[in-house]
Amino acid sequence: MKNIVIIGCGKGIGLATANKLAEKHKIIGISRTENPELNHPNIEFHTMDIMTGNLDEISFPEVIDGLVYAPGSITLKPFNRLSADDFRNDFEINVLGAVKTVQKLLPNLKKSESASVVLFSSVAAKLGMPFHASVAASKNAVEGLTKSLAAEFSAQKIRVNAIAPSLTDTHLASQLLSTPEKREASAKRHPLQRVGTAEEMAEMAAFLVSDQSSWITGQIFGVDGGMGSVKL
Ligand SMILES: NC(=O)c1ccc[n+]([C@@H]2O[C@H](COP(=O)([O-])OP(=O)(O)OC[C@H]3O[C@@H](n4cnc5c(N)ncnc54)[C@H](OP(=O)(O)O)[C@@H]3O)[C@@H](O)[C@H]2O)c1
Repeated sequence: MKNIVIIGCGKGIGLATANKLAEKHKIIGISRTENPELNHPNIEFHTMDIMTGNLDEISFPEVIDGLVYAPGSITLKPFNRLSADDFRNDFEINVLGAVKTVQKLLPNLKKSESASVVLFSSVAAKLGMPFHASVAASKNAVEGLTKSLAAEFSAQKIRVNAIAPSLTDTHLASQLLSTPEKREASAKRHPLQRVGTAEEMAEMAAFLVSDQSSWITGQIFGVDGGMGSVKL
């Protein structure tokens, strides 16, 4: 049984990942809002805003084997309507929140025999898309952070990888999927003709945390219905 910390486990991909991993592991879940669906006995939940909260208030296990950082943003606006604050907010939640968490938990991750960190990018980091300037800038920073930390921590056998989803049916994407017409148009943009599910992202997160991925580090995995690499 591994000790796995999941930030942003209240909804969406973080929630699906917590519920999946709780079948076999102890989960320390942190999110802004508690969710009744997080009721597995292996999940210890803490309400906290990761940007403003003090992680020192949580008593983490001495050894942490996995860290999944799932908070993020989809701020879609034409470039001339994106403010400096939009760029700053996206950078803070996507990058600085992850930096704060990894820095706090690094001593515990170092004590694991096989630690793994999973961050979240987006297909928009790889593929230029209109209105994505702010989120794409932040998610490319996440990818840079992923590879840089993978290099720096490799001597300590801490693996660091990122998942780059395309449109996934979660609360974060609810505006983009709010009508049957929007849902169908979104589905058709993907080579596999549908949007993704939180459970599909959770499968990849669970694999990257597990020892089955023990020789994988510094990678960005598109879980995107083919969007990032296939053109029909
Ligand atoms: N869904 C997509 O289409 C999509 C596409 C590309 C990339 N991604 C990336 O995938 C990751 C997961 O996305 P998702 O769709 O699962 O998002 P989501 O549905 O918004 O869920 C994110 C969870 O993180 C929590 N959270 C947000 N900010 C937080 C903070 N400051 N402190 C603590 N918890 C916080 C949220 O709390 P609350 O419950 O209080 O809101 C929520 O429980 C993100 O990095 C996102 O950018 C998603």
